[in-house]
Amino acid sequence: MNNRMRVFQAVFVVFSLAILPVASVGASPDPVRGKHAMVASQHVLASQIGAEVMKRGGNAVDAAIAVGLALAVVYPEAGNIGGGGFMLIRRPDGKAFAIDYREMAPKAADRDIFLGKDGKLIEGEGGSTVGYRASGVPGTLAGFDLAFRKYGSGKIKWADLVEPARKLAADGYILSYRLANLLHAYRNTLSRYPDSNRIFLNDGKFYQEGDLFKQPDLAATLARVEKDGAREFYIGQTARLIADDMKANNGLITLDDLKNYTAKEREPLRGTYRGYEIITMPPPSSGGIVMLQILNMIEPFDVKSMGFNSSTELHLYAEASRRAFADRSEYMADPDFAEVPVSTLVKRTYAAQRMRSFDPRKATPSATLKPGDLNISEGTETTHFTVVDPAGTVVSNTYTINDLYGSSVTAKGTGVLLNDEMDDFAARPGKANMFGLIQGERNKVEGGKRPLSSMTPTIVLRKDGSPWFALGARGGPRIISAVVQSVINVIDFDMDIQQAIDAPRIHHQWLPDQIYYEQFGISADTMNVLSSYGHKFADRPGNIASATAIMIDKDGVRLGAIDSRSDGAAVGY
Ligand code: DON
Repeated sequence: MNNRMRVFQAVFVVFSLAILPVASVGASPDPVRGKHAMVASQHVLASQIGAEVMKRGGNAVDAAIAVGLALAVVYPEAGNIGGGGFMLIRRPDGKAFAIDYREMAPKAADRDIFLGKDGKLIEGEGGSTVGYRASGVPGTLAGFDLAFRKYGSGKIKWADLVEPARKLAADGYILSYRLANLLHAYRNTLSRYPDSNRIFLNDGKFYQEGDLFKQPDLAATLARVEKDGAREFYIGQTARLIADDMKANNGLITLDDLKNYTAKEREPLRGTYRGYEIITMPPPSSGGIVMLQILNMIEPFDVKSMGFNSSTELHLYAEASRRAFADRSEYMADPDFAEVPVSTLVKRTYAAQRMRSFDPRKATPSATLKPGDLNISEGTETTHFTVVDPAGTVVSNTYTINDLYGSSVTAKGTGVLLNDEMDDFAARPGKANMFGLIQGERNKVEGGKRPLSSMTPTIVLRKDGSPWFALGARGGPRIISAVVQSVINVIDFDMDIQQAIDAPRIHHQWLPDQIYYEQFGISADTMNVLSSYGHKFADRPGNIASATAIMIDKDGVRLGAIDSRSDGAAVGY
């Protein structure tokens, strides 16, 4: 190098540092920093509300409840009180808890409820994806109530957690370009139901970006819940309004179904990846099991030296994912109704057996790959938000109404959009659901049963046992891929939390036998190599879920991150 070049290089380095005064290197911005506490959710107003709760002395559980209720108002496509989900809590004393507030099939539902006289799946009203019969009994308020009573700080009143959401519904908020467009995009289904049409489509006149969006019916429902408690939704006027509307429209949810709904505590699922403990959601979610299965299958390989998104790494990932999803189709369901062989599925010996057919240069066609043989010899062995409070309590919560705007039905007079979670059952065993998932008899529809989920709220610990990062995602079965690959990105590729959730990813769910990929996510070279191994690709690229996450760095700083694929904000202090 001559002197002129050296001078040029030095100037270039100094100049680069001057214009890039950031800690991370890569296409993602730095995570949002907070010394004490952090909320990462898909709407800035909800994140601000959560941060305020903690400033007033509430813990992460209190904050999560306030965030969840606020999202029901400002993020109506997924935030909800008409759906359900999972809340994973880890306290600073190391104890972890999993609250299952997944929706429950109404008592009158049975295996054939979504089949017409011809034995075919009913499409549209009466089917599992839209309309009154698509809804399971909502669990969100029961779950929040359980979390509040058992794990809240005791310093904040229930009413103070509901009030910010009620106020947002009553006073309104300014509609973003994204939300105004999204409501318009769902006009065909929302317009079929009078209250949805009135509230979300402005009686067919539609909303524009910048409009003040008020939801007085929802505000009144929240006011009742604020005053009388979460049970009001299940036994009070709200319950009566929902049951009456169901009855008038051939729906199945009765007053008894609502009264009998209970949120349940489950033992969190635990595993490790390269020595880091992972705490995640057990059934009725498949997310935790499938994640641990994939991680167990890839752990024996030196993923780091394969290189991020190399053909070798993507092939390994796709093959592991294909095998885990094949098992999902057969073995996973509500554990209160079907035997789910969790401990076998998450064993390393089982993972090794599943990978015996792995060929580093050849895709295993899904048609030849059946769910695994569980007789192994024993070895020894639809929005997510994350909150960390000043004491270090971590809450990782994913909840959903399934499809955007759920069943499209707003129960008359309540302002509450109801879920279409019944489609997460095998509406017809062996036939694909809206996510293309093939599911079996274990996950058939039964009254009182919870549909199998892919939601994967997760917390990863450092090797000293302290919380390292927590995350989750929205996006149906792609949730699992987003969470697993983000975990791999942090642990194997040393990415910071924002980079880890932003990085391009793939998804393979056994059937259909194809790799889903993202635009500009994989190079043409890599795709060619993978095709030569026998992999097929989805017709078009599409986003593989979107995640929110918080990492706690070694100095205790909370680092919040929202997926660049979607809206949201991390708010910390
Ligand atoms: O529980 C499940 O797996 C699905 N109901 C989640 C749906 C979802 O993530 C939709 N998101 N955009």
